[in-house]
Amino acid sequence: MSFAADILAGKSAIVTGGATGIGAFIVRKLGSLGAQVGIVSRKEENLQRAVVAFKADDGIEVNYRVGDVRDPELISRAIASLAEQQGGMDYLICNAAGNFICPTEQLSANGWKTVIDIDLNGTFHCCQAALPFLKQAKAGGRIVSISTTGANFGWPGAVHAGAAKAGIQNLMQSLSSEWGKYGVRANWISPGPIKGTEGVDRLIIQQGLAERSLERIALGTFGEGDDIANAVIFLCADTGKYISGAELVVDGGSQWHRR
Ligand code: COA
Repeated sequence: MSFAADILAGKSAIVTGGATGIGAFIVRKLGSLGAQVGIVSRKEENLQRAVVAFKADDGIEVNYRVGDVRDPELISRAIASLAEQQGGMDYLICNAAGNFICPTEQLSANGWKTVIDIDLNGTFHCCQAALPFLKQAKAGGRIVSISTTGANFGWPGAVHAGAAKAGIQNLMQSLSSEWGKYGVRANWISPGPIKGTEGVDRLIIQQGLAERSLERIALGTFGEGDDIANAVIFLCADTGKYISGAELVVDGGSQWHRR
């Protein structure tokens, strides 16, 4: 799938967790279609390495700030500073997430809290920080959160992430309703397993679940990072102007209810 090369010219995007995994695919796509892109995550060495790779591989200049989405003040400062550098913000992509596999009966209170804090509370903090800028976006601000199909069917072994992502989905619906008056659209994408990501390697392949997962995917293959990036572009560009409070499932026709 390809979009016109300058479809996002003049737009400004911020991607949380944009240095690695699905986030990096989203950054490359936004940047190669003309948007200015800023990324924010916890580890400066990851950010620096990613910025060099984006420039070398795709010829795009990406701005970065260090920030932990769990810390409302720091993340707010990081987002505001990126938005100011980029002359505003049209798109906020809430992609930063933490996850690990742990049977629920062994999950500590802090383990539960840590993932809820990163995924759900972090998304809330970023949306609040971005709103003053998104309100000013000429064609209407866009929030796109990266969720998971696991939020719709339960996620045995990762209840913290499943519950947090389900919370994000409800948060997007509420924000679409409250912030529609500002022209802000809030939607979420639910990816199935995306190959080549650290998440799928650790959460599926290393758990011995690759074969079982593939059997449940109608199209018979894991997705690619660009499948998610293309969905983000669809929601952010003019194509998504009348979509808000909606889920876009990008999972090859998975049937997770088939146990
Ligand atoms: N199994 C069980 N408990 C775990 C765990 C695991 N694999 N990993 C972390 N925890 C628990 C810790 O034991 C701790 O709880 P405790 O204080 O009761 O012992 C709590 O979670 C916080 O762990 P900590 O390592 O201090 O948190 P952190 O903020 O440094 O990192 C994550 C949290 C989720 C980011 C970390 O687990 C991680 O690096 N995950 C892999 C990367 C990732 O999530 N990528 C996202 C793509 S899917």
